[in-house]
Amino acid sequence: MTTDPLSWLNERAAERVEAGLRRRLRVREPSAPAIDLASNDYLGLVRHPEVVAGAVAAVRRWGAGSTGSRLVTGTTAEHAALEAELAEFVGAEAGLVFASGYAANLGAVTALAGRGTLVVSDAGSHASLVDACRLSRARVEIAAHRDVAAVERLLAERTEERALVLTDSVFSADGDLAPLADLHRVCRAYGAVLLVDEAHGLGVRGNGGRGLAHEQGLAGEPDLVITATLSKALAAQGGVVLADGRIRDHLIDTARTFIFDTGLAPAAVGAARAALGLLRRDPTMATGVLDRAADIARIAGVPEPDSAVVSVVLGEAQLAYDAAQACRERGLDVGCFRPPSVPPGTSRLRLTARANLTAAELDTIGVVLGEVLAEARGERAEVMV
Ligand SMILES: Cc1ncc(COP(=O)(O)O)c(C=O)c1O
Repeated sequence: MTTDPLSWLNERAAERVEAGLRRRLRVREPSAPAIDLASNDYLGLVRHPEVVAGAVAAVRRWGAGSTGSRLVTGTTAEHAALEAELAEFVGAEAGLVFASGYAANLGAVTALAGRGTLVVSDAGSHASLVDACRLSRARVEIAAHRDVAAVERLLAERTEERALVLTDSVFSADGDLAPLADLHRVCRAYGAVLLVDEAHGLGVRGNGGRGLAHEQGLAGEPDLVITATLSKALAAQGGVVLADGRIRDHLIDTARTFIFDTGLAPAAVGAARAALGLLRRDPTMATGVLDRAADIARIAGVPEPDSAVVSVVLGEAQLAYDAAQACRERGLDVGCFRPPSVPPGTSRLRLTARANLTAAELDTIGVVLGEVLAEARGERAEVMV
């Protein structure tokens, strides 16, 4: 018998090294990276003076932390204002902020589904929705990616009275869009609620960045629940559920990630409010992200995306990792998605557009990506012959 109860960790680590799946935390410099195509700062607001000032003012007024659960001490006038502003922005009746988008998804799904509910989730739903399904104790069925007919079949055949359908609006790995209007039509027909994660849609899709559900005419529908993170286009941190007022009340009473979690920090609330204010003042930021994504896709030789996410599939994990490293060494910070974030054999560079990328930055991106992708695609071709 082994005397080291952690020896299995060495074996697992060796397996991950072998498969090119070892992950490393890179400590970054305080200054912005040379060119950032890795972060989710879609509108380029994370260092905007008004956003930073919003965070600082909230800290000065309310302190560094929110001091407790929202239900005990953690709700400030700032939280209430942010909730009202976000709800108004997307056309929902009410909003409730959480400490993260992950917590918002866990809280919403577990509070709206339980034993006796059917949950149908798209095969490409974000990990936080997957985990929410696991925690919900509902019967969970996974529908094929963007397959409305499959969702309809599952809803029609169910024996449970209640049903909840889950999907991302913009899928995080490929940046493709969910057929929200069709999903909502099917949900309405079968008495189900549609929950849409707008993490990558808010600030990018829809009129002035109001999200894909708004774009597809679903704003304010009582059987629609929107969740979102404040950490991407809104350049802050935290999550939100935007829905009918009865759903907000229900979450306050029952969502465990709301009740048993410290409220969102004032700095994040202040920053998110300032970012939302900027987006309202300049709605062209949202179209700017899509235009820059189209530029990057052209450079990378992949189809123009419907979102800020440009996915350049390279294949094996090590190949994608090496390509990402080569970009970084040349001053281009890019994302690298490997299993389990994406299926085996589809490891990729994930490039995210930013509304305020300059022409000079795009020129540099052209040079660096041109070289790195030519090399990576050449290596892949060699492996395949
Ligand atoms: C689609 C999606 N949903 C939820 C989350 C979680 O949000 P947060 O980072 O605020 O926890 C993310 C990523 O961060 C995401 O990409």
